Amino acid sequence: MITDLIRYRIKRDPTVKRHLAKAVTWRVVGILDTSLLGFLVTGSLNTGIRIGALELFTKIILYFVHERVWVSIPFGLPLVFRRQRKHTEEAGNLFRQQFAISRRDREGRNGHPAFTIWFTGLSGSGKSTLASALDEWLHGQGIHSNVIDGDNTRMGINNDLNFTREGREENIRRVAEICRLFNDAGIVVISSFISPFSSDRERARKIIGVDSFHVVHIAASLETCIRRDTKGLYRKALNGEIRDFTGVDSPYESPLTPALRLDTDGMTMNDCLIALQDWLQRQPLSAKVAQAVT
Ligand code: ADX
Repeated sequence: MITDLIRYRIKRDPTVKRHLAKAVTWRVVGILDTSLLGFLVTGSLNTGIRIGALELFTKIILYFVHERVWVSIPFGLPLVFRRQRKHTEEAGNLFRQQFAISRRDREGRNGHPAFTIWFTGLSGSGKSTLASALDEWLHGQGIHSNVIDGDNTRMGINNDLNFTREGREENIRRVAEICRLFNDAGIVVISSFISPFSSDRERARKIIGVDSFHVVHIAASLETCIRRDTKGLYRKALNGEIRDFTGVDSPYESPLTPALRLDTDGMTMNDCLIALQDWLQRQPLSAKVAQAVT
């Protein structure tokens, strides 16, 4: 009966298995410790082993129950983990809803397709400046567009995330979901995030959709970004005042096959904008975008 219950729980929630394994391994350490202490205090090896053996069963059960009780207490857990647990719990109980007006309907009314231009590059590489210039140009052509930017989203919806590997992963996951919502609303998104890890960009591609996701690498060298240091963050990072800073003590993985790579070291912003416009022209875009870029 109990074993059936445990088997059922393990099937539903893999952490049960982990907690059982932890309870048992910790007890092996515990029994050795208790037996040794029993022996030291009583001088009898037999008594020491008996106390240790008695403790074995009671403590395995207590430890396991303690771990399981803590599973339902969110106290002290980073938000990221609370979200993942909630997601796991709800898996299977959610159903995608379809609505009367589709993305195609909205694109049709706007007269252009919706997609995401994903700027990636080091802090200070020129992503935001270029995103703003491209947005301004698209806006001027009557294209529905919007910029989504790292600094801004990290001061709003993502203000609970840090710059660790996990924090960045969650940052990019959420942002990709937002880009998809904007695209669903018929809007061209220019997203501007360091997004240093290729696995996170790959995930973004899957969320947004392979055909709607175009990576543009804003490829300024680290030396140039450090020299510019417009926000004074490289100085802080090099002095050890900021940790996990991309390019200093956190890696940047360059995209191997971006749709477009702009070496902003040797190009003016205007050169970059023209290169972007040329690239857009080569895309299978319809109506307004095609007109605008010819
Ligand atoms: S990402 O790596 O998760 O994609 P994101 O683009 O959202 O980063 O945010 C980057 C911006 O946060 C930078 O432009 C910079 O202004 C600021 N920032 C603050 N701390 C860091 C850090 N440790 N590493 C990188 N950027 C940082």
